[in-house]
Amino acid sequence: MKRRDILKSGWALGTGLAVSGPSTMLRAATDSAPVAFPQNFQWGVATAAYQIEGGAREGGRGPSIWDTFSHTPGKTRNGDTGDVADDSFHRWRDDIALMKQLGIESYRFSIAWPRIQPSGRGPANPAGLDYYKRLVDGLLDAGIRPFPTLYHWDLPQALEDAGGWPNRDTADRMTDYAQIMAEALADRVTAWSVLNEVKTFTQAGYWDGGMAPGRKDPLAFLKATHVANIANANAFHALKAVNPIVQVGSAYDCANCFPATDSDADKAAAARWDKMINLWYLQATLTGTYPELLPADRQAELLGWQPGDEARLKVPLDFVGINYYSGWRVWDEPKGNGIPNLNTRAEWAWSPRSIGKSDFGWDIDPPGIRQILKRMQQLTGSIPIEITENGIADNTPPGSDGRIHDAKRIAYLRTHLKELRHAMDDGVPVRAYHLWSLMDNFEWAAGYSQRFGIVHVDFDHGQKRTPRDSAFWYANVIKTNTVP
Ligand code: BGC
Repeated sequence: MKRRDILKSGWALGTGLAVSGPSTMLRAATDSAPVAFPQNFQWGVATAAYQIEGGAREGGRGPSIWDTFSHTPGKTRNGDTGDVADDSFHRWRDDIALMKQLGIESYRFSIAWPRIQPSGRGPANPAGLDYYKRLVDGLLDAGIRPFPTLYHWDLPQALEDAGGWPNRDTADRMTDYAQIMAEALADRVTAWSVLNEVKTFTQAGYWDGGMAPGRKDPLAFLKATHVANIANANAFHALKAVNPIVQVGSAYDCANCFPATDSDADKAAAARWDKMINLWYLQATLTGTYPELLPADRQAELLGWQPGDEARLKVPLDFVGINYYSGWRVWDEPKGNGIPNLNTRAEWAWSPRSIGKSDFGWDIDPPGIRQILKRMQQLTGSIPIEITENGIADNTPPGSDGRIHDAKRIAYLRTHLKELRHAMDDGVPVRAYHLWSLMDNFEWAAGYSQRFGIVHVDFDHGQKRTPRDSAFWYANVIKTNTVP
């Protein structure tokens, strides 16, 4: 039985957390009282198709931009690709069994667009649909909520060849794809997430170039943001048209933006970066407008803005998905950065409150999750929030006892979940938490070098899955509905 009562605990920003010497281990939080979550709070895990499925050339799947990118020399660590990944394309039954064993209540996975429409347009590929129907049925049989994301970065290569996200036609292709999936799964899926992290796939894909398709063109990035925001709304309408009672949201990666110094210039730069990172996507969706940033008279040129776009962008999301990992350090950059008026330089994964680093080198800032939730609530108001991702790369190898003692991950989860609960006490209506990730997987440009899973995957020995200590710890959180 889940507990109804909510334990309140004294809390102040930054208390209870410290770095234990020069190592990056977290000391156990002195905020040591157990914290109970409300009844009906949903506990989940998240994955994404290209990161776990493998089976890249099976079942009629077409190539995606990530196949192309990862097979291009020099683009990913060690030349790693998602060709096999966790082989979840074949082992999905094992994965469901594992989740059932851990008591997982909600599984956020993504659908590979190129399995459904191998060239990004035209009729659905029956083998692709069957794969996801079986997966969804398996989840339902196991009592786990299927929570699909339509797009987690694997754009069919043919659509990139036709111009990719900066091309407005891609938003219409998204409509067709969403309609196909809505019709295929209408009777089995009650909650959908449309896009995963528009900010990341547009910025890293078209401006920074570190992710697929690897373009380095700030103006293409700007156009991509607008097209993706329209695609988000298009998919919302397509899903609702098939079944008006489904819950539709999207997953936004949100992060606190910290000025690098106390100077007014850096403070103003951090505020501009916050608009670009945190508001550019969610505000467009909820209000149909962009934050004031670009020169007002250049919207058509810079975004491809057309009359009527305000209405095209705006949809009443049923919930907002938030992904939280770390923060940004931001400097003023008078020379500019390619985006008119933005004039910033920003470094990912930094916080002035850092209590250590993940094995990926990302600053760990547990109060940051509370801070960003309250910041985003200024925009989302009473719309329910689901944490669609939160987690840490902890690469601790298996011990001599055969177990994997990922103490840093447990400390990360404990502190972040407590801060999340505090945000809920503050009035942020969070109804679910999805841990990133169920299992180690293809960490994009970092290949298999970073392990985010509560389940260890042995990539050298048949993708064998071994739950880490954190998996048992999380299972206990779910069972008791309480974070110890
Ligand atoms: C992405 C995941 C990724 C995780 C860790 C998120 O930005 O949605 O696909 O693996 O961060 O980097």
